[in-house]
Amino acid sequence: MIDVVVVSRNDEAQDICSYELASADDRPLPGFSAGAHIDVHLPGGLIRQYSLCNHPEERHRYLIGVLKDPASRGGSLAMHERIHPGTRLHISEPRNLFALAQEARRSLLFAGGIGITPILCMAERLAHSGADFELHYCARSSERAAFVQRLRDSSFAERVFLHFDQEPETALDAAKVLAAPHNDVHLYVCGPGGFMQHVLDTAKAAGWREDCLHREYFAAPVDTRADGSFSVKVASSGQVFEVPADKSVVQVLESHGIDIAMSCEQGICGTCLTRVLEGVPEHRDLFLTEDEQARNDQFTPCCSRSKTPLLVLDI
Ligand code: FES
Repeated sequence: MIDVVVVSRNDEAQDICSYELASADDRPLPGFSAGAHIDVHLPGGLIRQYSLCNHPEERHRYLIGVLKDPASRGGSLAMHERIHPGTRLHISEPRNLFALAQEARRSLLFAGGIGITPILCMAERLAHSGADFELHYCARSSERAAFVQRLRDSSFAERVFLHFDQEPETALDAAKVLAAPHNDVHLYVCGPGGFMQHVLDTAKAAGWREDCLHREYFAAPVDTRADGSFSVKVASSGQVFEVPADKSVVQVLESHGIDIAMSCEQGICGTCLTRVLEGVPEHRDLFLTEDEQARNDQFTPCCSRSKTPLLVLDI
């Protein structure tokens, strides 16, 4: 855990603020690579992940961007309303689940809305190393697009293409941009689920290889309408609890005094990963690889459920 202090806060766009964090004891912050994020421990016990969007060479500060999301479960509202210059926070060391592929000859970066944060950091890194890339940034309007001035002032401004829904003449033609897949061209996308799906579907239709496609979700896209109930058994004690359709495994266990460490609560970070001894989980995370999920010997109880009536957990 690292103690930091909020040095400054800036309005970057409508409902988007950036926060500059510096070490509380003036020591350099741990280094990070483009695409990395930190966990921010918020007042009230919430923990949220935010991508670092400053230059990855910097050690004197971390910069994060936060969208005030009306569908927020409390994290983004807490950031916007309670975090100001001078506020002290605990954060984790940076972690990277969205790293640049070293072998890429060329990179295509796609950001939607607040998804610009890791993409901006990637663009800084690629520009710094003289790599070939272009960045497509989509937002509803120029007022809702963050860091636009920084992009326009950057050394790579001519590689940046802005696409605003309210200016149809700027619309992204994904099929055209993605028309020429190649094994050493890599695609990176971050943004709202529908936007990411569009970019990835277009790439796949154009013949892009899966291992050239890199994505960072804000939340696992799931449809919970058909959820039913199932039971979980605690292997160490033999206790069996029912998990109703509207509760997660973690919530049910917590209500019986069994705490599982959590961070993102959305199947992204892997903090809650729990071994499964019997039964078949219904995986809803974005943390495990497809192969790891297929082994069915672990799952993320913050969001994943069960395909079988009973799951026996190694706790
Ligand atoms: Fe992050 Fe479960 S708490 S994956």
